Amino acid sequence: MGAAVLSGLVLALALALPSVALENGLARTPPMGWMSWERFRCNVDCQADPRNCISEQLFFEMADRLAEDGWRELGYEYINLDDCWAAKQRDAAGQLVPDPKRFPSGIKALADYVHARGLKLGIYGDLGIFTCGGYPGTMLENVKQDAQTFAAWGVDMLKLDGCYSSAEEQAKGYPEMARALNATGRPIVYSCSWPAYQGGLPPKVNYTILAEICNLWRNYDDIQDSWDSVLSIVDWFFTNQDVLQPAAGPGHWNDPDMLIIGNFGLSYEQSRSQMALWTVMAAPLLMSTDLRTISPAAKEILQNRLMIQINQDPLGIQGRRIVKEKSHIEAFVRPLAQAASALVFFSRRTDMPFRYTTSLAKLHFPEDAVYEVQDVYVGKIIGALKTADNFSVVINPSGVVMWYLRPMALPVQPWHVVRQQAPGEGYRPALL
Ligand code: GLA
Repeated sequence: MGAAVLSGLVLALALALPSVALENGLARTPPMGWMSWERFRCNVDCQADPRNCISEQLFFEMADRLAEDGWRELGYEYINLDDCWAAKQRDAAGQLVPDPKRFPSGIKALADYVHARGLKLGIYGDLGIFTCGGYPGTMLENVKQDAQTFAAWGVDMLKLDGCYSSAEEQAKGYPEMARALNATGRPIVYSCSWPAYQGGLPPKVNYTILAEICNLWRNYDDIQDSWDSVLSIVDWFFTNQDVLQPAAGPGHWNDPDMLIIGNFGLSYEQSRSQMALWTVMAAPLLMSTDLRTISPAAKEILQNRLMIQINQDPLGIQGRRIVKEKSHIEAFVRPLAQAASALVFFSRRTDMPFRYTTSLAKLHFPEDAVYEVQDVYVGKIIGALKTADNFSVVINPSGVVMWYLRPMALPVQPWHVVRQQAPGEGYRPALL
């Protein structure tokens, strides 16, 4: 497509959109919970695999685990149905209905069950003829009715996928669903897959408009149960951080997709890396793993209190990659409330633990500051690290060292608030 045609299209799309913000007051911090897709996919064979098929039983059991195993108290509150919950046909009234064999009690009963345990229910829809898995989609003419159905069922979050629709239909349908959800009067967090279907980058994607429509959005490819997949997502998000980082904030988040910690593809170090890097990205923490059988080690990573506190920081500033060394060590910083910061050292090496020496000055922290440093995984506190001090960390292959830094002494000169980096400017962690 020529540049002129493209920019004309973008302008047309922009004009077609409302200028009002979504402003549903939801997702002030990145949503946390559980989602079925990555681990349980579209397994609908309940005869052969009753324990793992997409059925109400699976969601009842995961809700029990979220409520009873310490997850809910830490903030993991959403339990989200993904694709393949629906019957293959709408009913006579044109309404979406769940598969009667696999969800005999209906979605309303599932929502009641979830709510009774202090949790919230998410559901999956797709703007298009079919969902990606071939179930009934939401065509433009179904948008209002489906929003009303979800609200009547007591749904608290909607992921609206974009298989089987055109760019034009998406440009109409995604904002229309935002309006339809708002019109129901029920608070429903709205997750849009729109940008992922438009390549995730400007000029096709307008993140300013997106933030006015959606609470979170999938920007990029689906996560798979492998380290390669995690790395490709990390690479894409940080390569494009100048575009993506300023797009995130309270009420509107980039979504690099589910956490696969607890599954089969990641080592212990890699699991810790996914958690740390998703936290630095201010990403939603949507686990997709079997909470009935999760290992204590994986659970400990996902239930790390300081990690979750950092992920849920009220300022909601997404972090950035600050350094990419020739030694295959990378450093990331996320500015936090009260002039604190999270710092992640990540090793892409494949040989042995690597001793990396640097200073906060080299990572562009403010001069003359002094920090108390806490290792997020080890818990150990190191006192009084000055910006100019050299220090070393030992990072395992495909692992991270993650620090939480609280200022002990603020520099005398007045620091201004730096919320994010404009392209080409130097980076500074925020001092508020
Ligand atoms: C797409 C989405 C996934 C998942 C599947 C379901 O691929 O990106 O997250 O919802 O569809 O079919």
